[in-house]
Amino acid sequence: MCGIVGYIGPRPVLPILIGGLKKLEYRGYDSSGCAAVTPDNTMLVFKAKGKVSNLEEKTKECQQPCTLGIAHTRWATHGIPSETNAHPHLSQSGNLAIVHNGIIENYATLRDQLRKRGYTFKSETDTEVLVQLIEYIMNIRHSDLATSVRSALRLCIGAYAIAVVDRRVPTQMVAARKSSPLAIGIGKENGEFFIASDASPIAEYTNRIVYLNDEDVALIEQGKELQIENLHSGSVDYEIKEVDLDLTMLDKGGFPHFMLKEIFDQPTVLKDCMRGRIIERDGSLRVVLSAVEQHKQRLVSARRFTIVSCGTSWHAGLIGKQLIEHFCRIHTEVAYASEYRYNDVVVDPDEVVIAISQSGETADTLAAIEIAKKHGAMVFGIVNSVGSSIARQTDTGTYVHIGPEIGVASTKAFTGQVTVLAMLALALGHERGTVDHEEYEEVLRELTRIPDKIDHILRQNDRIRDMARIFTYAHNCLYLGRGWNYPVALEGALKLKEISYIHAEGYPAAEMKHGPIALIDQDMPVIFIATHHRLYQKIISNMQEVLSRKGRIFAIVTEGDEQVRNMCAEVIEVPDTLACLEPLLTVIPLQLLSYHVAVAKQLNVDQPRNLAKSVTVE
Ligand code: AGP
Ligand code: GLU
Repeated sequence: MCGIVGYIGPRPVLPILIGGLKKLEYRGYDSSGCAAVTPDNTMLVFKAKGKVSNLEEKTKECQQPCTLGIAHTRWATHGIPSETNAHPHLSQSGNLAIVHNGIIENYATLRDQLRKRGYTFKSETDTEVLVQLIEYIMNIRHSDLATSVRSALRLCIGAYAIAVVDRRVPTQMVAARKSSPLAIGIGKENGEFFIASDASPIAEYTNRIVYLNDEDVALIEQGKELQIENLHSGSVDYEIKEVDLDLTMLDKGGFPHFMLKEIFDQPTVLKDCMRGRIIERDGSLRVVLSAVEQHKQRLVSARRFTIVSCGTSWHAGLIGKQLIEHFCRIHTEVAYASEYRYNDVVVDPDEVVIAISQSGETADTLAAIEIAKKHGAMVFGIVNSVGSSIARQTDTGTYVHIGPEIGVASTKAFTGQVTVLAMLALALGHERGTVDHEEYEEVLRELTRIPDKIDHILRQNDRIRDMARIFTYAHNCLYLGRGWNYPVALEGALKLKEISYIHAEGYPAAEMKHGPIALIDQDMPVIFIATHHRLYQKIISNMQEVLSRKGRIFAIVTEGDEQVRNMCAEVIEVPDTLACLEPLLTVIPLQLLSYHVAVAKQLNVDQPRNLAKSVTVE
């Protein structure tokens, strides 16, 4: 959600800030701003509503040399998106500037106390309260910037990633985090430093990254060694990580949108996800996950699994439950992280909690992990973003390795997560002896064929684009599936809602008759996932129920199917595969369908309204 960029060093500051914000645009925002300090102690501030290009326009004319700068994309939580509420916010004297991602929950109390001491506020934000508080502390205690920031943060309740500068000290910046991400890049030239919400704006300059932990406050001074102090435990021995980010993943590679590129990336990145994990030796296949090797005993003897996640990752979790129960015969629950964190959950110390997250920064999932750990459960992460907060908070885990996902609507992360869950279930099932060897090899073999099968589906892109036009007139859509494909119905509906703003519901097909059937008429498209498996005939009966009410059916079918085709307005074929791996194929046409509907409606596919890529507030 939103983003922070900062730079201190000899290079031209404003282009670094604007370029960095553009790399973070995918996270979602409604306005942006930056502040830069000149060597003669002037603070320059620029703000704009809407796109980062609007901000870029405003900064273009500025020729003044600067040594230090901070920038921000805002996703409003307190106060409407406006220039006044956009960050950076200045302190009363104008000496300090702050950018902040997150929420200061007790801002109203702090603001009342500061008002009594003569402070006034220009914006409606919680952030402005924090910068005034820092200045107030600085004035009464005569403390330096880092000490004042630490004291102020001790008084704050909530979540933050912040960067603060003081125009009187143009070679220094203070950065801190709690629950919102922040990375510091140690530059290669003249003691320069970068900060950013993730490594993508930093990667072109340096691969040496320090990730701040919760309640760490960093003092960043040009040409000096980075100093980090934790609010509670004092000086921190930090680790410098060498992060290798594939920069080609950060551009659209000739596609009009990141989302389309990421849909088409799937055959390649799923191979990356399986590489070195599914191994062929003497003609037989094995799956080796290092986390399973290292924690075999605990994982194999787990009495229960609970999967915690949100949104698309939660849908992957629903498939994970079926995979684990099928191959490992272990009871598995799936919980929305946002519910789990506040429910009176029963956690067995012998339980393993699996946290699934593309971004690795989702606040609700992080909080759920904390609860699980408090109860003594082992937490296993399935995360895409390397070095992210969830990756660091979990006891062990398996990276998805599908490269950065930029489009807000998750696509390749979903198939990557399901692939990891399938490998995990097979690895554990094999260790537990709950999957027979023939089936184990058969599923692994088929898993390796999935990328080519996806490629085959992607060749129907033009046909799906033509079909999408029909949907642009719809106000409601129903997605129905059963068994392995029920979570795919949920995911298809979520994709359509997110980027085309058409109301869509996903339902288990047989459950439709218990309510949603009342909605069916000739105007509502109903999309069935009706592939050739155990419940095929049952699904056909559910389709009859829709047809009898004049419903208009579209279906995802197995190649060569005739029976369903005769009942539908249109069908999209997917190659045959094992039932348990079907979601990896059936979801592809649904991703393409929602993409083309959004394009036909001329909507902002990669940054849909109101949404953010990584949801770092609860
Ligand atoms: C997916 O299209 C959504 N944008 C959203 O539901 C997302 O999956 C959810 O916010 C969880 O994110 P995470 O995987 O980064 O934790
Ligand atoms: N709570 C702050 C605001 O509304 C920061 C929001 C953000 O994370 O961008 O301005």
